[in-house]
Amino acid sequence: MDRLLTIQFRELESWKLLDVTDQELVVKAYAISQNAYAPYSAFHVGASVRLQNGEILTGSNQENIAYPSGLCAERVVLFYTGSQFPNSKIETICVVAKGDLLPYDKILSPCGACRQVMLETEIRQTNAMRVILVSQNEKTLVFNNVKDLLPFAFGTI
Ligand code: THU
Repeated sequence: MDRLLTIQFRELESWKLLDVTDQELVVKAYAISQNAYAPYSAFHVGASVRLQNGEILTGSNQENIAYPSGLCAERVVLFYTGSQFPNSKIETICVVAKGDLLPYDKILSPCGACRQVMLETEIRQTNAMRVILVSQNEKTLVFNNVKDLLPFAFGTI
């Protein structure tokens, strides 16, 4: 039997069309991307999360000369959130990037390892986590949950 999987997401010309609470996440993600430690890739990534209580936490990618020892911005902020507020629920995560590797009009889509961690966070908190991705030319994608970004994830199906 052939089956079709459909994923619904929103595309906006600019993140400035988001509601103000989401705009704040974008602004904070760009701000923290300046703290990236990325001497090897020169790729500066920022991630911000808004908890259900409205609190915002942020993280940037942190590299290491032993390359796999570094960590993406998404996992930095998710692990930080989990360690500081183990019972918190993340309503939305926003990811932005800057760097020569990323053309101005392209969106950074989280890597597979980050999706895996994002998904487990979503499952653990038993609430959908929205995902906002923004390009340098402001184009924005909004996903309703992480599962949509990692269908058929590791586990039983
Ligand atoms: N990176 C992230 O922070 N998030 C992603 O989703 C993909 C890649 C970082 C890892 C590394 O420091 C640099 O970007 C280049 O891959």
